[in-house]
Amino acid sequence: MKFLDIIQKKKENRILTEEEINYFIKNYVNGKIPDYQVSAFLMAIYFNKLNLDETYYLTRAMIESGNVIDLSEVSGIKVDKHSTGGVGDTVTLILGPLLASVGFIFAKMSGRGLGHTGGTLDKLESIPGFNINIDSENFIKILNKSNIAVIGQSENIVPADKLLYSLRDATATVDNVSLIASSILSKKISLGTDALVLDVKVGNGAFMKDVESAVNLSKLMVSLGKKFGRKTKAMITSMNEPLGDAVGNSLEVIEAINVLKGNGSRHLKEISFKIASKFMIMENMVSSEKEAMSILEEKIRDGSAIEKFKEMVTLQGGDATYIDDTNKFKRSSIIKDIYSKESGYVKSIEAIEIGIASRDLGAGRHKKDDVLDLNAGVYLHKKVGDFVEKGEKIATIYTEKENEVEGVIEKITKAYSFSDKRQDYKLIIEEID
Ligand code: URA
Ligand code: CA
Repeated sequence: MKFLDIIQKKKENRILTEEEINYFIKNYVNGKIPDYQVSAFLMAIYFNKLNLDETYYLTRAMIESGNVIDLSEVSGIKVDKHSTGGVGDTVTLILGPLLASVGFIFAKMSGRGLGHTGGTLDKLESIPGFNINIDSENFIKILNKSNIAVIGQSENIVPADKLLYSLRDATATVDNVSLIASSILSKKISLGTDALVLDVKVGNGAFMKDVESAVNLSKLMVSLGKKFGRKTKAMITSMNEPLGDAVGNSLEVIEAINVLKGNGSRHLKEISFKIASKFMIMENMVSSEKEAMSILEEKIRDGSAIEKFKEMVTLQGGDATYIDDTNKFKRSSIIKDIYSKESGYVKSIEAIEIGIASRDLGAGRHKKDDVLDLNAGVYLHKKVGDFVEKGEKIATIYTEKENEVEGVIEKITKAYSFSDKRQDYKLIIEEID
């Protein structure tokens, strides 16, 4: 077999065999196929696409390029969720404790923040002592003890994805549904959970800019998940404003704690409850969404959800007194309010601009090895649908970077748009089973 022939075949829009796809991944990861050939191949895939079988073979070959984590020693139903990335998206920190408190095993490998979106690992590290570097042996031990662990992807999981992702990034071939789906699903399948819910974001702050492409990606990922024998569902949710009110690492942790204590952002709660209820229905724990919702409400009311969060923090080395008293989180030395220049109903808030503002204040990375200010970020007092008077406070920024303040205030002010009429915000756009 020659890789040149495989490139030629895809260029001619023919369907690749399982053997050809396996040959590609195996030899690319071994360093026997050079990047320049793979670049041409990715572009051929971009234009001529992969069908479901080809995408499945690609995903499987990618999984087999590295280690998989065997969770068979963990008793119970193991569940995982994935969000395609948003701004102010702290769902994992709310959903995980909720699922653990109703009896699921929430086993999650998370990532760091990149570009304008935050990462769960960075958020958790804002809790002093919290350790995300946990090997699979201890991961299993913690899961058996408390039903929940959120760790970094430290072991050799899907090395093919690391190579392919950086090459896609450098060759304008990121935005192909088969390449996205294989990249996401290979990492999810490598972790041996039983059920998966995918939250596909759409809108100005998301990877998918329109509903149609989000639907296509969701359908493909659900089909792929099922082909691997995993119960898989997806939902498409709006990112036409940041999901929660807080954007920034410790700010988002505090918000998640507030939601788990029965306060905090309505939208964060809505999405977390929706995903949790999907798992409860999928695994026949309840017969309706209504029944699921009332059980989840009770887990918040009786304190078991926040107790699970504290248990996770303690078992992963963190200081749980920060959860009891969020005033312990360090406050930035520069805290400034931003006031509206207009009156009206908030129509939309460019999530990407708020994400960039938060990054500029120190909460995110410009380069991969940038050190974060875990307490920096933005808090939004006004969201879509709220009425704002000219001169009223719309947001507060937290930072140590005096030189960024002026630019960030301008960016946030511009990110808001207003209307004379109140707009409804449709958070959950579509559900795909
Ligand atoms: N997230 C991933 O992990 N991979 C992609 O290709 C896109 C988003
Ligand atoms: Ca975020």
